[in-house]
Amino acid sequence: MKRMLSGIKPTGQLTLGNYIGALRNFVNYQDDYEMIVFIANLHCITEYQDPADLKKNLTDAVALYLACGLDPKRSVIFLQTDVHSHAELGYIMACNTYLGELNRMTQFKDKAQKGEKNMTAGLYTYPCLMAADILLYDANYVPVGEDQKQHVELTRDLAQRFNNKYGETFVVPEPLIAKVGARIMSLSDPSKKMSKSEETNKGCIYLLDDLKDVRKKIMSAVTDSIGIIQLDKENQPGLYNLIEIASALTNKAMEDIVKEFEGQGYGKLKVYVADIVCEEMEKIQKRYHEIIDSRQIENILKEGAQRASAIADPKLETVKKKIGLEIKY
Ligand code: TYM
Repeated sequence: MKRMLSGIKPTGQLTLGNYIGALRNFVNYQDDYEMIVFIANLHCITEYQDPADLKKNLTDAVALYLACGLDPKRSVIFLQTDVHSHAELGYIMACNTYLGELNRMTQFKDKAQKGEKNMTAGLYTYPCLMAADILLYDANYVPVGEDQKQHVELTRDLAQRFNNKYGETFVVPEPLIAKVGARIMSLSDPSKKMSKSEETNKGCIYLLDDLKDVRKKIMSAVTDSIGIIQLDKENQPGLYNLIEIASALTNKAMEDIVKEFEGQGYGKLKVYVADIVCEEMEKIQKRYHEIIDSRQIENILKEGAQRASAIADPKLETVKKKIGLEIKY
């Protein structure tokens, strides 16, 4: 069975973008692949997080993984810091990454260009840690949304570089990006990705949002004045985004949704999208509350970390031996 690995960085509450672009796919893949999914908590602290908020967001993220259908029997689920090999291989990867490569990473470049102050060294070297996350497990595939593709491509380069220098060590992973839903856009500004770090809350749906607010956000989603229901991503990006959300959640082709609503107003389509999103989220939220109440999270993470360490730790040992870092007495 091929192995798949992915993670989410809960710097805030998980979003509908995380669900459609990533989490939902992890759940679907877990029957056909050996699935390893972790909470990327080290990645969270590349920017300051209030400690109490961070702790809550991490717990909620695990509960949401489970609520969305990740099954700890079939998938390995763990917290990144519970497996120490991540940080150690992350450093080794940073020593095999060129500054030019990190300068080209669009997430970093965008922030730097916006003139963001107080950017940390951790934020800069974060793709090296992400490469370590993946390479420790010899993952064949990495299911991610569009915005993470560049990081997985860097991981491939680093794996190949290491293999060339030190001999065959790492599996070179492939990014796996869904055809529909790989880049869900903000509802209030469809030129931007839906993201936890949005300044206003209007464009981002959080998986734990009150369903009344979810409906409101969808009904007031920015569209256009063209007034025709069709697929024109360039001129009608807001409309396209709503249809894409509906398509991802129903598995209906976007063209079929357009046909269903042809000649009708945007209002009707928005009600349809709101119904679909709320129905899905209601199920997730119900399961989320059951999981939080059952207090099973700690045990699941403990077992997950043991299973993950059993793969990652020997891999790190191999890497250290190959580099010549170890002295055996
Ligand atoms: P993060 O936490 O930003 O996002 C988690 C996953 O959700 C996807 N995603 C989206 N997909 C569609 N539309 C959106 N609006 C949207 N927003 C987010 C992301 O593409 C991602 O798949 N660096 C990673 C976490 C990470 C990781 C890893 C992932 C750390 N180590 C190893 C895979 C393998 C991140 O910050 O994702």
